[in-house]
Amino acid sequence: MKNLLVTGGAGFIGSAFVRHMVSAYPQYRIVVFDKLTYAGNMDNLLPIKEADNYVFVQGDIASRDDVRGALQAYDIDTIINFAAESHVDRSILDPDAFMRTNSHGVFVLLDEGRQHGIGRFLQVSTDEVYGDVEEGFSKEDDRFLPNSPYSASKAGGELMVRAFHITHGMDTVITRGSNTFGPYQYPEKLLPFFTTEAMDDRPLPVYGDGMQVRDWLYVDDHAKAVDFVLHHGQSGEAYNVGGENLLHNIDITRRILALLGKPETLIKHVPDREGHDRRYAMDCSKLKALGWKRKWEFEQALAHTVQWYKKNDWWWRKIKTGEYLEYYKRQYAARLAAAD
Ligand code: NAD
Ligand code: TYD
Repeated sequence: MKNLLVTGGAGFIGSAFVRHMVSAYPQYRIVVFDKLTYAGNMDNLLPIKEADNYVFVQGDIASRDDVRGALQAYDIDTIINFAAESHVDRSILDPDAFMRTNSHGVFVLLDEGRQHGIGRFLQVSTDEVYGDVEEGFSKEDDRFLPNSPYSASKAGGELMVRAFHITHGMDTVITRGSNTFGPYQYPEKLLPFFTTEAMDDRPLPVYGDGMQVRDWLYVDDHAKAVDFVLHHGQSGEAYNVGGENLLHNIDITRRILALLGKPETLIKHVPDREGHDRRYAMDCSKLKALGWKRKWEFEQALAHTVQWYKKNDWWWRKIKTGEYLEYYKRQYAARLAAAD
């Protein structure tokens, strides 16, 4: 392993992985390959922009020319794929890009990677492929029952990874992460959205009763788990990466408000997301048996994250303009008008 292509490396989790890898492995060359969609942001890579072992290439994983060009130009031997359309609500409004990137794009990366003769291919996936888990904990061999266009498109990508491993003997590994939070997360996802809205005393639109359950994982732990699976995962295997910290949406919302010293009157219960999964929960014993351990305690990670958004409004205020406001209107205007 020498020349690593990190696709989607300008996004939230991908950039945390890149910032970690660039300093942890000076012997590797880290090539970030990113289309810079609305969610891609070069500010996320500012801390490592001068590093000698880092290069940025703008490109689309669904374009064979873009992918082949990067594989050849940088003699790539390893691919770590974070690139995705990642927001469930947008997959309900505009699903096309989800199929193109999350399913077809993964196929293009695999096929071009195989022709180029790469070694390991790591696919970053999600607990959402298991669908709604009313009780118990998903294990890696459980069947896929995705319910949103987002999770279905991610499941499609994963199945193609499996097929390339079985059919072509490609060296593949998959991580299935749970809901991730931390600095540099695009402020459409629950945590940065609610934190930054509350800072401005704006309403927090909680879908339905707010009793949905998510498993919250700190971004540095997620990034390091991907590094761990990259180096220690067994070929052809998938690994659950959870925070093992299940919380109702309404509880995490209240905690954010408490940390900011803002009133709970900002909470507005709005009409639910269509097809909304009630609960995600994973059994992470397979990854732990391999030797992986989480570092961050949830309370400490949450406080640190809320503090980061307080200190870094330069980062998110410029995002919350233009296209973001258009999206906000489409997603929330009618919902908030119907709030109780
Ligand atoms: P993000 O939306 O913050 O970043 C996605 C990045 O991919 C952006 O930089 C974007 O520009 C890039 N991208 C999108 N389409 C592309 C294309 N066609 N070609 C090249 N680049 C493209 O997403 P994130 O939250 O950092 O998620 C990263 C990965 O982790 C995704 O695969 C996602 O499915 C997975 N995941 C996310 C979470 C979470 O809670 N955020 C949890 C589990 C798994
Ligand atoms: P989100 O951050 O979009 O992640 P995901 O849908 O991938 O789990 O949402 C986390 C939870 O918060 C999910 O149950 C939906 C809920 N939610 C709201 O109640 N209101 C909101 O405005 C958003 C963005 C999410």
